[in-house]
Amino acid sequence: MHNFLQQLPKVELHLHIEGSLEPELMFTLAQRNGIKLPYSTVQEAKDAYQFSNLQGFLNLYFQGMSVLRNEDDFYDLAMDYFKRARGEGVVHIDMHFDPQAHLQRGLPLEEVMSGLLRAKQEAEETLDLSIGMIMAFLRDRPADEALHVLEQAAPYWKMIDAVGLDSAEIDNPPIKFVDVYQRAKELGFMRVAHAGEEGSASYIQEALDQLEVTRIDHGVRCLENTALVERLCREQVVLTVCPLSNVSLNVVENLRDHPLPQLLAEGLKVTISSDDPAYFGGGMLANHFACAEAFGWGEAVFRQLTRNAIEEAFVTEERRIDLLARLDAL
Ligand code: ADE
Ligand code: ZN
Repeated sequence: MHNFLQQLPKVELHLHIEGSLEPELMFTLAQRNGIKLPYSTVQEAKDAYQFSNLQGFLNLYFQGMSVLRNEDDFYDLAMDYFKRARGEGVVHIDMHFDPQAHLQRGLPLEEVMSGLLRAKQEAEETLDLSIGMIMAFLRDRPADEALHVLEQAAPYWKMIDAVGLDSAEIDNPPIKFVDVYQRAKELGFMRVAHAGEEGSASYIQEALDQLEVTRIDHGVRCLENTALVERLCREQVVLTVCPLSNVSLNVVENLRDHPLPQLLAEGLKVTISSDDPAYFGGGMLANHFACAEAFGWGEAVFRQLTRNAIEEAFVTEERRIDLLARLDAL
């Protein structure tokens, strides 16, 4: 099974590039930029990654990314993850990035975008890895700030596939961003949003109705509403489920209690992603191994999950056909 999961042409639809910052690279960048970290060793940083909820994680996530200061840092961050993911048999990544988290620290958007886009281009040319770009808005910041960032990103619109919504979910309902998503729709962007991770099933419904998203990031709490589950099935809305993330943030107590098998049994279009692999115990392969062990899934389940992800990935139709062919050939 391990060999099969390594060979599987995995597609990751839910990855925060800032959450792929491994402590080793964090130390390297801190040194390069003359920044003092609150940890004295890599091990000390890893030991601090014990979270009781989403907010506890977000505090360290924003602190960690403070070492990113210029274009080269963003390039190194992304290439480091792309190479690691490719080594795990990943062939496509739809990558969230959080511009507001960097603008707030006084970095120009150009530093962020040029570093990430240079890494994307190099990965696509040299690694046989395609990359989708999801510009995410921080939902605990004001909606007019998000709208401003969307407009400010005009020079990069052509290179961005979708807008997303992340950060602290509770008390920041999707409807707060209805104008931002309306504008994104006018501009022709695909739309995704985190919903139903810590927030209730009503946030999933609101994201579908008010933001007109085609994907729900996480979405595991949909099971609390039968009518919603039926709708998600009928419309085949993809759920980007992140098993190890849900365990780390106490969305579930342990993986064996995770609703993934039930989500599949309901006929939902489920996929598996790592979310923030540097913080939650590993990347795509670790998430696949953990599911194989916890749920006893055979190859057919993983093939279906991968097919779902390939069908929904932000790729050219040519690339999609190629990836489906690779899956069928395995
Ligand atoms: N930002 C990075 N990871 C996140 C998650 N799992 N939920 C919400 N916001 C995030
Ligand atoms: Zn996420």
